[in-house]
Amino acid sequence: MTQDPLLKVKIFGGILLSLFILTLGRSVSNKLYPPPPHKVTLAYAGEEAKTQQKTTEKITTAPVESTVDLATLLKDVDITAGKKIAAKCRTCHSLKKNGGIKIGPPLWGIIDSPAGAFFGFNYSTELKQKNIHWSVQNMNHFIKNPQEFIAGTKMRFNGIRKSVDRANLIGYLQTLNSTNGGTR
Ligand code: HEC
Repeated sequence: MTQDPLLKVKIFGGILLSLFILTLGRSVSNKLYPPPPHKVTLAYAGEEAKTQQKTTEKITTAPVESTVDLATLLKDVDITAGKKIAAKCRTCHSLKKNGGIKIGPPLWGIIDSPAGAFFGFNYSTELKQKNIHWSVQNMNHFIKNPQEFIAGTKMRFNGIRKSVDRANLIGYLQTLNSTNGGTR
């Protein structure tokens, strides 16, 4: 039996080679099918928590507008404050009892009266066709954004943004009626 002088080298080489293949194989398979890394899972959970936090923040900072309704605001009106805000309306409307036409029709007794009904005022077709009464709700919508409530109205007024201001103004307008000694 002739001993191969290179046998030891061959065996050693073979072991090295198989170790190499094994390592290579593992690293390739790790790349192809990476084991679920724990860190990533944690980071994802953190992200989710953050998103949730953001959503909550959004809810809590939502405009007061949507949470406080008109009826609640009207229960606690500040008539004096409302009278001051009415200065904006006086530019175009008389608020006096038996007042006359200015740029717009007079507004004494306007709350709960039919829209577009002041005799002699040339209303826009859009306002007349709206066919409503000036309930506190309608008035609230109108003075918030006249053009949005009645598209095409002749009333060129940007609107009163704060609901508290609108409620106070409406509270003041409510005092200008026949119960308080006047007719429209
Ligand atoms: C720049 C002038 C102007 C200002 C300011 C103004 N209005 Fe008017 N308003 C008008 C005109 C013009 C009309 C008629 C609208 C139409 O015919 O479409 C009108 C119509 C109205 C009507 C309908 C009246 C009816 O007889 O049906 C109401 C209610 C009203 N205004 C309330 C207000 C209130 C409240 C304010 C103050 C917050 C205000 N307006 C500010 C010009 C104005």
